[in-house]
This record gives sequence, C-alpha cells and structure tokens, in this order.
Amino acid sequence: MDVRDNRLFIGGIEAASLVKNFGSPLYVYDEQVIRTRTREILQAITYPKTLIKYACKANTNVEIMKVLEQEGVSIDAVSPGEVYAALRAGFDRERILFTTNNATHEEIEYGLGEGVMINVDSLSQLSFVGKHHPGISLCVRINPHVIAGHHDHVITGGPESKFGIDYTEVDRIKSIAGRYNLSITGIHQHIGSGILQPEKFMEAIDVLLDAAKHFEGLEFIDFGGGIGIPYREDEERIDLRVLGRRINEEFEAFCRAYGSELKLILEPGRYLVAESGYLLATVTSVKEGQRHRFVGINSGFNHLVRPAMYGSYHPIVHATCVEGDGTAQTIAGNLCESGDTFTRDEEGIVDRDLPLFSEGDLVAILNAGAYGFSMASLYNSRPRPAEVLVADGKARLIRERETIEQIVN
Ligand code: LLP
Repeated sequence: MDVRDNRLFIGGIEAASLVKNFGSPLYVYDEQVIRTRTREILQAITYPKTLIKYACKANTNVEIMKVLEQEGVSIDAVSPGEVYAALRAGFDRERILFTTNNATHEEIEYGLGEGVMINVDSLSQLSFVGKHHPGISLCVRINPHVIAGHHDHVITGGPESKFGIDYTEVDRIKSIAGRYNLSITGIHQHIGSGILQPEKFMEAIDVLLDAAKHFEGLEFIDFGGGIGIPYREDEERIDLRVLGRRINEEFEAFCRAYGSELKLILEPGRYLVAESGYLLATVTSVKEGQRHRFVGINSGFNHLVRPAMYGSYHPIVHATCVEGDGTAQTIAGNLCESGDTFTRDEEGIVDRDLPLFSEGDLVAILNAGAYGFSMASLYNSRPRPAEVLVADGKARLIRERETIEQIVN
C-alpha cells in the first residue's frame, strides 16, 4: 500500500484526488500491479511452453483486458459476453477458450461461429458438438474430484460440483469423440477458487495428468485457475516459485512419457487483478448504535458482493488517515438489507478497528479488482460505479458512471 502523509495513494495518485475528479463510489485499478502479478506467474513456471489464460470473469473491463493482452496472456471466457469482450479487447480467436458450463446450444454455436475453441463440460455437450460439427478440435473439462476453494460456493471439483466430466469417464469421452471424429486437443480442469495450498493444485494435477495419458494427440493441458491472494493481513502469499517448480517437474516428466512437448496452461483470474483494485466510497452518515458504530457509505453489496455472499474479508482503510488509532466500527452499505456490511464474516458483523470516520470521509476497500465490478448488480436501482485505470502516474476513465436514466427500463 502506498501511503504518504497518512493518505492513501494509488499508482502515484492520491485516492482523495481521484474521487474529486471522478466522483464516488469509484473503482480504481493500478495497472502496474496487474502487470507485476502476471509476470510473477510466468517467471515461476519455467517450462518453455507455458501459457496464461486470464479467466476474465474476474474483471471484464475491456481496458483491463487490453493490459493483459499486451502482457501476452490468452483468455478463458465462460459466456458469449466474455468471448465478445475478449474480441473487443483485441485477443485473436486462437487465444480464446470458451468454457461452456450449461451453455445453450445457441451460445455454443456463437462461440464456434466466432472461431473460438470450445471447452465442453458434459458428455451431452460433446455429443451435440460432435453431431453438428463433426471433425472439429476441442477441449474437454474434467472433474478430478479434488476439492478446494475459499468457500463452498467456489469449489468446482468433487461429486457435489456441476462442472466437468468425471475423470472416471475417460472411456465414454473417447467413444463419443471417436463416433464424430472429434479431435480432443486439450484437457482442462478447474477445482476451485482462492486456493492458498500448493498441495491441492498438485493433487488435482496428478489426477488430470493420469487422465491425459489416455488421450492421443493432445496439444495442451489446462490446469485451471484458483490461485488465491492474501486478503487478510496475516495470510501468507502462496509461494509461486515452489508451486512453479513442482508443476514444472511433473509436467516435464509427463511430456517425456507422453512423447510430445505439450502446452501447459494456467487460468488465473483473481491472482492477476484482485490486488490492483480499490473500491472508494464516501461516508454518508455515522450512527452510534447500541452494539456497533455504523459508518454508512455510498456503496453496498451491489458494488462488491464478496463480503455479503461469502463472508469474505477485504482490507479497509480510511483513505485520508490511513494509520491512526483504531476504534471498533462497522462499515455499512446503503442497501435495504442488514447483510449489507463490508466488515463481516458468514455469521454477521465483525467490527473493524479503524481510525474514526466522519461524514464526508473516504473509505477505501482494498483487493477489490477481482469479482468486484464483474459481480456488481443494479439492486435497489442504484447505478454501478465508474472505473478508472491508473498507469504512469495518470488516471484514465475506463467506464463511465451509470445514470439512473440508463438503468431504469
Ligand atoms: N477457470 C474457470 C473455469 C473458472 O470457473 C474460474 C473461476 C477460473 C478459471 C478462475 O479462478 P480464479 O483464478 O479467479 O480463482 N466470485 C468468487 C470466485 C468465483 C470463481 C469462479 N470461477 C469470489 O469472489 O471469490
């Protein structure tokens, strides 16, 4: 965190001046952080044919995606909207993988029509694609039955998960592919999100590599995303060099046995963008309740749903008095639900010791660059915030603030 004279700076610009120029609530992203995190992963994995596919669901702002395009990453898209965003951001079709959990036939056709590869999610999808597009190349998503993730909602492996084709179904995959002359050139998995334990990745990688042996003609293996970030001050960052070394070793050994140097793909979303993002909001009222000091702000779970949805922790600072004496306070949104608080866990409010807030002060919610704006809603008919990208000491509006006229039909 960049703090000067006890005031928060983002990419060299004072948070308060960003709000002065662009208003609040405001999402601000620091471009350099996105570039640094991306390079960190690429440096950690030394296997030469390594590729990052950015899981753009984390943040689909086209200007953010352009930054990642410049960094040489590719895209994992999960909807026609994300495919469209990737194309608009300048990604070539060959760099986009369309992962199609429960997609409609029309959506799959849209992807194929745009020339992007489909990552099929079920045997019935595989048959559908085979019947209508015999002979094409595609990727298959496998469920390796390894369970990981920061919350039940984001665990995507295991028997409770709706994702992928069980790793035990390899024979059926091969028989359907054979029937329609489909080339399975990639296999994929994604076990969950917000994972900080390297062993979980390695467990799943073992299962996928074991399944991979049974497919001929593979060109790539995609181990999915899920690399967590330390949201809490006392959480440790995953040691990417250790993880990278282990992935390198396993993958190189696999390729030697397989007899071909396949592409190794990782599909991070959060890791690339989460720490670049700040949600800045203004204090609208302060209420001394019987149990809590409620600091009301002009934002809510319509703009950042993670605390309300998963009980997630985000660091919060007083943007013009970052390091002061702390008083227990609850940062509360402006929506009509009591769950609309930013300082909470799954059970309810957890006060945070923060410098005393007064009306007009600026609250900064950190690590909000992933699954912040992309999960924002229009609940309570409140427009979504503007978004600003800061690079080289300059701030640029990358999405205009919505107006109520735009959002009311
Ligand atoms: N690949 C696939 C197929 C995915 O479904 C996801 C995330 C990723 C990659 C990227 O995962 P990441 O590296 O960002 O963990 N809204 C939740 C996270 C949901 C993730 C869903 N899938 C949150 O705010 O924690």
